[in-house]
Parts: sequence; structure tokens; C-alpha cells
Amino acid sequence: MVLKDLSEANPEIITVQISDIARGGKGVAREENGRVVFVPFTAPGDVVRVWVTERNKRYLDAQAIEIIKASSLRCTPPCPVFTKCGGCQWQHLPYQLQWEKKNGGVKHALERMGISPPEDWEEHPADNQYHYRNRVQLRGFKEDLGFFAARSHTIIPISVCPIAKEEINLAFDKIRSEATKFTEAYKVEITTSEIGGVTYLYNSPHATGGFRQVNDEQNNKLRQLVFKEVPPNVELFDLFGGNGNLSLALADTVSAIHCVDVFAPTEVTSSLPSNYFFHRCSVHSWLLKQAAENEPLKKHRVAILDPPRIGLGETFNRVASSLEHLGVTKIITIGCDPDSWVKDVSRFVRRGWIFRKAALFDFFPQTPHVESVAILSI
Ligand SMILES: C[S@@+](CC[C@H](N)C(=O)[O-])C[C@H]1O[C@@H](n2cnc3c(N)ncnc32)[C@H](O)[C@@H]1O
Repeated sequence: MVLKDLSEANPEIITVQISDIARGGKGVAREENGRVVFVPFTAPGDVVRVWVTERNKRYLDAQAIEIIKASSLRCTPPCPVFTKCGGCQWQHLPYQLQWEKKNGGVKHALERMGISPPEDWEEHPADNQYHYRNRVQLRGFKEDLGFFAARSHTIIPISVCPIAKEEINLAFDKIRSEATKFTEAYKVEITTSEIGGVTYLYNSPHATGGFRQVNDEQNNKLRQLVFKEVPPNVELFDLFGGNGNLSLALADTVSAIHCVDVFAPTEVTSSLPSNYFFHRCSVHSWLLKQAAENEPLKKHRVAILDPPRIGLGETFNRVASSLEHLGVTKIITIGCDPDSWVKDVSRFVRRGWIFRKAALFDFFPQTPHVESVAILSI
């Protein structure tokens, strides 16, 4: 099977055997000298002729040009533009293997930081491995409608997206006919609602409408874990809380909820419970202000921490000391990037927090991404 034509003069071509999958999703092989070679869209057991696109001291990046012997682990990707559209990386791998790699990858990331994975380790693989995404962002120009190719502004036209919900796929024809009004390239966000129905937003600025988890079924499982872990009558901080996705339904059981997010809703509707407060500002500035205005508290508050991919980063110490000052004794910390999540968890552990439980949720089948949750207490 020939995967790619070569366009470069004197390309470096080598043959390698794939032995593993790296956490970022690429197949891993080794040159005779032991140097690692990363090859996307390959499976353990493949023997592949590859084009070396980058060679540096520690590793090589390469692209498969021919699969000489296909691994018996491979399965047939259902998507006609798999490898081209810049979306999925793992449709050629059976789901069981995808889940093992995600699970093993998070455990390995913890061990590398000197943290033992807790005995209480919950796993929530996805029930729907296709047709799970509740929103997609497509690009269109004239009759083409599709996704940008990876690291490019070239549109890869599609007729369906097998990871998007069926209602989204059914909307493509309507969009193609509506979009004849555009004379230039356009962007369209297609979103399904949890209660049914599809909306389209053309050329809207980034983050219009705030953040929404892409996988409703897995999001419900995550909510259930949060509900189980928040005891009754406590005060809850939902930090990086978006529109209150993880905490709104807890208003009846806890004493008060403060949901802090730079995109928190500004308009308070009459249906918002009277003990629920949105704060549209940055988490660390809100916490610093609360800590400055209050004496150290012994309150047994609970905090959910669900930062973006980069985790708490340089705000970590200010966030952690403010939480401790404000009497938070339990933290539910959630992350979609295992490295940043592990970094934050390990920093809490070094401050004396106990890592009681971990739970992994597959929000993104057919990709190497995984949502990790740690329950920490002090
Ligand atoms: C991974 S999302 C989680 C949202 C929410 N917990 C949910 O389940 O829908 C991260 C959120 O962090 C918000 N955000 C990013 N940087 C922030 C900051 N410095 N302070 C407050 N919110 C921030 C984003 O607006 C986004 O809603």
C-alpha cells in the first residue's frame, strides 16, 4: 500500500518496524542506533518504509510512504478522509487498544513524576466510539465544505464526519445550499443541543457562546462522579466552571456555589438558584481577592478545578495557597492534557495533599486525548 508520493529532492527513506504507540498518538520505532522514530497513522507490528521529515539529536519525525507488512492489530477506518483532515489520529486502531494506550499513558506520566497511581482508579471508556461529537467547526469555499488539513488552510471536503453526531451530518446539505450566499471562504459551527435540535453559526468569533464539553454521554458520567464527590451542605467553588456544567445541578444539595470563569454568563436568569453565583473573571485574581478579604478559614470547602489544556501553569502557587487559606479541604481537579494535569497533581501532592482517587474519561475516541480527574484532600 503506497500512502504518500515524495516531492522533495533526495528524501531520506528508511524502513522501520513499529513497536509501540506514543502518548501523542504516533507509532514508535527505533533506528539501529536506538534513536526513536515517530510515524503517525501506524500500528504496533507494522513494517513501514518512511520518509524522514526531521532528524534531530534525540528523535526522528517521519511519514509513512508504504506499509510493507501491515500489523494484525489494524482495523479499517470508516472515514474516507482519515489521515487527511487533521482530526482523528487513531481510526486504524481498535478501540480496546486505544483505551489501553490512554490508560497506560496517564499511569506512565504519573510514575515519571514520582507519583504512584492511587488504588482507587476508575475507568470510563466511551460507549459510543463514533457519532459522539456535539459540535464541529467546518470551513467552506464555493461548493467545498470540510475541515482544514492538519497545519494548513487547505479545505479537505467531506460528505460525512463519522465522529460527529448524526444530526450534524444531516445538516451538511442545508449548509452547502445556504452558503451559496458567501462569495469568500467561510467558517460554520454546527452544534447540537442536549435537548435536541441543531444550530449553525456562520463566521462567529472564537469562543462565542463559551465553552461546552464535546461529548454529552461522557460529560454526564463526569457530572455523576462530581455529584458523588461533593458532600451535602458544603460551599463549592467551581473554578474554570464555564456555564456551570459540572455544578449547577448541585445547588439543591450544597450551601452555596461560586462559579468562576472568564466567559461565565453575565446575564442572571430567573431560573438560576439563589445560592448560585457566577463570577466573570480570572480564577487566580478572584481567589487572591477572596483570600485577601478573609482571615484563614477552617471550613471544609470543596473546589472543582477544570483549567484549559495548560493546567494551572505559573498561577499554581497563588491558586493553591489561596484555596488552602479559604478552607478548601477537597479538590476535584480535571485535565484534558495528561502532562499538565500530572504536573498540577504532583505539585499539590508536594504541598501535602493526598491523591485519593483517579478517574479517566474518554471524551475523544479515535484520538489520543483523554480527560483525567484527581480527587485530592488535605
Ligand atoms: C476545560 S474548560 C472547562 C469548563 C467547564 N468546567 C465545563 O465543564 O464546561 C476551561 C474553562 O476555563 C476558562 N478559562 C480559561 N482561562 C481562565 C482563567 N484564567 N480564569 C478563569 N477561567 C478561565 C475557559 O473559558 C473555559 O470555560
